[in-house]
Amino acid sequence: MKIAIDGPAGAGKSTLARWLAEKLNYIYIDTGAMYRALTWEALRKEIDIHNAAILAELARTTDIHFTIDSRSQRVICNGIDVTEQIRSPEVNSAVSQVAAHAEVRQLMVSKQQQMAQAVAVVMDGRDIGECVLPDANYKFYITASIEERTRRRAAELKSSGYEVNEQNISQEIQNRDYNDTHRTTGALKVLEDSIIVDTSNLTIEEALNTLLEIIGR
Ligand code: DC
Repeated sequence: MKIAIDGPAGAGKSTLARWLAEKLNYIYIDTGAMYRALTWEALRKEIDIHNAAILAELARTTDIHFTIDSRSQRVICNGIDVTEQIRSPEVNSAVSQVAAHAEVRQLMVSKQQQMAQAVAVVMDGRDIGECVLPDANYKFYITASIEERTRRRAAELKSSGYEVNEQNISQEIQNRDYNDTHRTTGALKVLEDSIIVDTSNLTIEEALNTLLEIIGR
């Protein structure tokens, strides 16, 4: 059983995917965290994020994996726990440029396919339904209004101790939306078999119930 969850930044995908996986007892794979970890590594090494060849080489040589501790899933990049660092504003504004490189995507997609092999998964990202799990049993497209997505992102950053400016966050989300939907490979899009769920007016519990109801049907 494979469940693909795609959608724009801040639509509630990750929380929803994690809760859904818990509820169904499936493995949860946050593919955005993989692109974020690679971006964190590129920024740390002061690599030019527009250089496709160097980034592809970095993607080939960087070990990114997930571990589970007693409370949560952790993201490990070359042996360093980067779970919190990959949510920083610096990573937020660079990640969609890193994720735009075709060769980086190719490497990530094949890694994600290996991770999903022979296990029941809920996987979230941008190209899951189209590229990573084209045979997924369900392909959800989770979206929300830009105002609501900005509000959620601001709350998330605030709770991690960052100072927030909603106007900047809104702009950053819109830039990321543009990059994620306009790149040449693995662009975010609604597919013919996508099930669209707009979470603007839903609590996370209501959104989860909507998904469970569809799967139950
Ligand atoms: O879901 P997120 O906000 O953590 O994703 C971070 C960035 O990674 C997002 O701007 C686009 C990119 N991404 C991608 O290109 N493909 C994926 N499957 C997942 C994320």
